[in-house]
Amino acid sequence: MKLTVNSTPREVDAGRNPTLLSALRDQLALTGPKLACDRGECGACTVRLDGDLVYACLTLTAACDGAHVETVEGLADGNTLHPLQQAFITHDASQCGFCTPGQLMAATALLEANPHPSDDQIRAAMSGNLCRCGTYPKIIAAIRAMAASAPGAAT
Ligand code: FES
Ligand code: FES
Repeated sequence: MKLTVNSTPREVDAGRNPTLLSALRDQLALTGPKLACDRGECGACTVRLDGDLVYACLTLTAACDGAHVETVEGLADGNTLHPLQQAFITHDASQCGFCTPGQLMAATALLEANPHPSDDQIRAAMSGNLCRCGTYPKIIAAIRAMAASAPGAAT
């Protein structure tokens, strides 16, 4: 299968890596997306597939031919963190960090679609990403800060 992963053309073996998560982690060594529940319940494996959020553990590699996949590894610009990654650090929104790559993918998708979400919209958009460390209030604070600094924010 031919994919574009974080803007780079890649080839993966769908026979050896039946799920997109295994293709990313085991073949392409992109270990940002995490394997946790392996059944679509936790969001640790969240990536974007042609712009849409998907659970990579439930996504068949064979169905991704020609697709554009974005993982957390694609957020930073070289050594410069994505502003949301910086906001997570500033607001201490990561403890063990296991859920963080998936949280970041969900939050960037939210802010692209809705740069000024309400708290209820943030909670709804992030509801597919669980955090066993309970960092939810800090994740919301980080997203809120991004929304406040986005063009057109209420002052
Ligand atoms: S590992 Fe995919 S949803 Fe939990
Ligand atoms: S920071 Fe530990 S699972 Fe979320």
